[in-house]
Amino acid sequence: MSIIDSQLLPRTATVNDAGVLSIGGVAVAAMAEQFGTPLYVYDEEHLRNRCREAVAAFGKDRVIYATKAFLCGAMARLAHEEGLLLDVATGGELFAALHAGVLGERCVLHGNNKSVEELRAAITARVQHIVVDSFDELDRIEKLHSEGLPAPRVQLRITPGVHVDTHDYVATGQDDSKFGFNLNNGDAMRAIQRAQASAAVELVGIHCHIGSNVLSVANFADACAVMVNLFLSVDLPELTLGGGLGVAYTNGETAPSMSEWADVLKRATSAIPAEKKVFVEPGRSIVATAGLTVYEVGTVKSIDGIRTYISVDGGMSDNPRPMMYGSAYEAFDPARTSADRTEHVRIVGKHCESGDIVINDALVAPNVQPGDLLVTPVTGAYGHSMASNYNKVPRPAVVFVANGAAREVVRRETLEDLVRFDI
Ligand code: LLP
Repeated sequence: MSIIDSQLLPRTATVNDAGVLSIGGVAVAAMAEQFGTPLYVYDEEHLRNRCREAVAAFGKDRVIYATKAFLCGAMARLAHEEGLLLDVATGGELFAALHAGVLGERCVLHGNNKSVEELRAAITARVQHIVVDSFDELDRIEKLHSEGLPAPRVQLRITPGVHVDTHDYVATGQDDSKFGFNLNNGDAMRAIQRAQASAAVELVGIHCHIGSNVLSVANFADACAVMVNLFLSVDLPELTLGGGLGVAYTNGETAPSMSEWADVLKRATSAIPAEKKVFVEPGRSIVATAGLTVYEVGTVKSIDGIRTYISVDGGMSDNPRPMMYGSAYEAFDPARTSADRTEHVRIVGKHCESGDIVINDALVAPNVQPGDLLVTPVTGAYGHSMASNYNKVPRPAVVFVANGAAREVVRRETLEDLVRFDI
């Protein structure tokens, strides 16, 4: 039997006797009917619960939501209301957070190549702190200070020299990285000394980010050990143990829970005096499983002796992750969620590329027809945020659903939107 694992579905997902899937009390098919497909659907209760679990595990004002995983006004406000700070990695993400009504002091600015304008915007907005990534960035902040801007609170991003088991494209803690000050070659200490001596910054802490979608808590423990050592040797009030907690994407995959992750970090930081602040930066684990994508099937083509191709009405423009990282997903028809998925098919998108593969070898229930819906769960992180207009495909709408009501929080793009920058 291959029925979709319930752990891949949002928390309020229910399946009735006929196999019909609802989220937040609304049938997925009804949302597809009302808002069209492809459609990103988020379970609002799931989002809030994940935020609350993170705050319960790590403490108030210690969780910094990495907005790159999923950012729109509604999400920025939701995370803010739940007491999370927001990690913004560009001036654009900062603008979106401020535009949503989040105060600068609840934002933390990241980025390996922040422009003078991005730094100016962050300092002017009085962000909680800036995570400084390079000596060139220190030069830029010093220049802004000499022009009269106040000295921002900063943490320094340290590369701890730890390799984690994740895709190379999202591993960040190893020596060979574009991010941060290298600990092993002495840059980290040089940066700490320079920032401590500079009137242009108020050095409040150090930061590390070891990678994204980390599924082994042992990896966190290794990175923490290095960072805690360094932290105890410098007298600073704040430490950020960044690094994204991973999630399960497919049946049978497992990921640590928020509290397992917290336990490992707490043990690893037990030598740190209580008055110091330790922050964490989950992104994906807050939003990934809360969200799913609903597609409509357009064509079904069987090639005898080779395979069946099922084309859906989206693809690499709404989820580039399979092409970028070889990421695997599941798919199922929300009208027959409990059906045994016995057919091997390849689910592809509508883009003009053979590589536009949503799921290379998907299991689906027999006899999928044009007009059926297909859901890919666990697309809440880096789906909407990495979507593009490739082939001039308008980006899908985003819907939040809760307590029997679905509301559009990002509208579907129109054809007019596709040409609005033409001059
Ligand atoms: N903190 C910092 C400084 C980060 O750069 C990131 C992610 C996170 C936290 C959150 O990590 P997460 O919770 O997402 O694992 N597009 C890729 C992921 C790139 C992540 C970049 N930084 C993907 O789709 O897998």
